[in-house]
Amino acid sequence: MDEIAGYNIQRWKALVRVNALFTRPDWTLDAASARAKLDPEGRLGEIVGKAVLCLAGGGGQQSAAFALLGARVTVLDLSEEQLQGDRQAANHYKVSIQTQQGDMRDLSRFPAHSFDLVWQPYSLNFVPEARQVFREVAQVLRPGGRYQFSCANPFVSGLMASDWTGDGYPLKHPYQEGAVVSYPDPIWVAESREAVPWTREYRHTLSALINGLIGQDFVIQHVSDYTDFHPDPAATPGTWDHFTAIVPPWLNFWAAYQPPVSELGNQR
Ligand SMILES: C[S@@+](CC[C@H](N)C(=O)[O-])C[C@H]1O[C@@H](n2cnc3c(N)ncnc32)[C@H](O)[C@@H]1O
Repeated sequence: MDEIAGYNIQRWKALVRVNALFTRPDWTLDAASARAKLDPEGRLGEIVGKAVLCLAGGGGQQSAAFALLGARVTVLDLSEEQLQGDRQAANHYKVSIQTQQGDMRDLSRFPAHSFDLVWQPYSLNFVPEARQVFREVAQVLRPGGRYQFSCANPFVSGLMASDWTGDGYPLKHPYQEGAVVSYPDPIWVAESREAVPWTREYRHTLSALINGLIGQDFVIQHVSDYTDFHPDPAATPGTWDHFTAIVPPWLNFWAAYQPPVSELGNQR
């Protein structure tokens, strides 16, 4: 394990201890709400019986939602504490979920081309090379399989609502692939920040994301900067609703793995 993984293991252990937002299993799901929460834009399609990998997606939210929709779910995450949340959610809903402790940068434990869908909630920015993750995802997706991931909007990554100056939210970090962006969690993520190491993220520029996908034979199907929040330019400046109206924080990508016919059958 390298220092990057070690840092995140410690950080997520602390976030689970303080009951941070992304560490709380979702106890409110049924099949209808599971689909609405996973897929507000209606792009998922039929998922019953499909093999889904929730990549760096521990915590007991998405894994339980996919299982309730009838998918065969594996969740891989670096944090044992986060995976515990997936197991608790699976018990609660009486569904079956496979949990695997591991790093998104190495998926060699899985048979080649064994998943129909790789679903990666916000986590790509926790590693310095998006390309490395795309390569691994391409190895485990079946041809035609799909990859959905969320990541930081690279143009504004590192800005926070509290950066309001009275006149705007100033850009101040270099726009550079792999540049470290580190900041304390906002209060809506973790009310208690006691002993929680700052998030340490890596900027992935738009060209690195798009060219990285193309380089691994992904066809980009849809990109969205809409996520499930309520941007409001009329809200009080410095609030989350105002901030997100000016500074869209996240991007979602849908891509399909479409290797040339000559590459089909290539195994690791
Ligand atoms: C923001 S959470 C995303 C998952 C959460 N289910 C959600 O609702 O958004 C980010 C997750 O990435 C995991 N993580 C960070 N670095 C990782 C790595 N290198 N490999 C695998 N998981 C990683 C963390 O342990 C954490 O569970």
